[in-house]
Amino acid sequence: MTERTFVMIKPDGVHRGLVGEVISRLESRGLKLVAAKVVQLDTPTAEDHYGEHADKPFFEGLVEFITSGPVVPMVWEGEDAVRQVRQMIGETDPLDASPGTVRGDFALDIGRNVVHASAHDDPGANDREINIFFDASELTSYDRLDESWLYE
Ligand code: RTP
Ligand code: MG
Repeated sequence: MTERTFVMIKPDGVHRGLVGEVISRLESRGLKLVAAKVVQLDTPTAEDHYGEHADKPFFEGLVEFITSGPVVPMVWEGEDAVRQVRQMIGETDPLDASPGTVRGDFALDIGRNVVHASAHDDPGANDREINIFFDASELTSYDRLDESWLYE
């Protein structure tokens, strides 16, 4: 099923120059970039985005970190995009993330894991997160030139 999924490069990924690497991986896989921008989050937006973790001990540090520098929120589209992207990003703790995943290749610490992606086990998460970061008018729609070679 064609899906749109929310992905965001975190401040560590931006500061470490990994924006191109992350985009390149998703793009080469065949996923379609539908929206992207560079922004620095304010605290209310960050608290809204990570609201599901409000009662966790790491919440305050997480909000502080995610607002500490620029992030690159994006929307990617493709068949089973939510699960495809989660697989490519790897487990939350880089220690458990397989080599070949973004976190398995570029991160060591759970609090500095380079990239966020919407949860596949929370069906409402994608639309909710896309709506926090993008207006409907910012989401594009187009065909990739190689689409007929990506899908049977
Ligand atoms: P994300 O939301 O950032 O894509 O990551 P995730 O789904 O893989 O992990 P999640 O459980 O949603 O946690 C959100 C982020 O909070 C930080 N975290 N720190 N210190 C800790 O125990 C801890 N646990 C989670 C991570 O940066 C994680 O990505
Ligand atoms: Mg999450």
